[in-house]
Amino acid sequence: MLTPRLEAIAKMIPQGATIADVGTDHGYLPLALLKEARIPSAIAADINEKPLASARKNTGEEFLDQMQFRLGNGIEPIGLCEVEIVVIAGMGGELITEILSADWEKTRSLSTYILQPMVKVPFLRKFLHQNHFCILDEEIVREGNKFYQIIKVIHGEEEAFNPIYEEVGPVLLRKAGTVLDEYLDFRIERIEIIQAQLRSCQESKNDEIMRWEKKKQEFLEVKEDVGK
Ligand SMILES: C[S@@+](CC[C@H](N)C(=O)[O-])C[C@H]1O[C@@H](n2cnc3c(N)ncnc32)[C@H](O)[C@@H]1O
Repeated sequence: MLTPRLEAIAKMIPQGATIADVGTDHGYLPLALLKEARIPSAIAADINEKPLASARKNTGEEFLDQMQFRLGNGIEPIGLCEVEIVVIAGMGGELITEILSADWEKTRSLSTYILQPMVKVPFLRKFLHQNHFCILDEEIVREGNKFYQIIKVIHGEEEAFNPIYEEVGPVLLRKAGTVLDEYLDFRIERIEIIQAQLRSCQESKNDEIMRWEKKKQEFLEVKEDVGK
């Protein structure tokens, strides 16, 4: 069974699509999709031999002819236009941008990406906007105290960019649900903790306090809009 984070990624993959799972590690995602006959085949790719060996072991004999295991950096082991969906999940936002910008001809030839950054979400969102990716779908998933954003993109122009889209994308904002509400509350609480720390520290700079206040106001405005 997949974790909620991986299940949310799986749900964004259309029935019958060919996929490459970049940074597959254990291979759980492609394996679950093959077991449920949701995809015909998959490429499980990883930069390290050990995770790839573990994916191979987890696959067993039954699905071995539908899964290819490829060693390499990012999308380097995937051919031009080879699959319909590329999943890059469980990595830092910055590393995801490095993978996407390593070979633009390859990146542009692959039409759809499902990205799940563990950290540096705004960095990735800004990169996507600047490099002409357009958000097709988004989800936010909670596992205990952690929130994970999942962003499905294609090539194209994004609608007008609002600064808050660096934190929470437009599709997610339109979806408005409990997890998004919880996420916004979580972010506001965290900012208030930072603000309290800054105020108690004599060396704190006023403009830093103001910067956090501005961010908090952005989240509060979003919270208000989402509730409407
Ligand atoms: C934390 S695991 C994520 C596994 C799985 N994708 C998930 O979301 O549960 C990260 C995996 O990415 C692989 N990795 C790190 N950098 C990579 C790169 N540049 N190209 C391909 N794989 C990479 C690591 O070897 C590791 O197996």
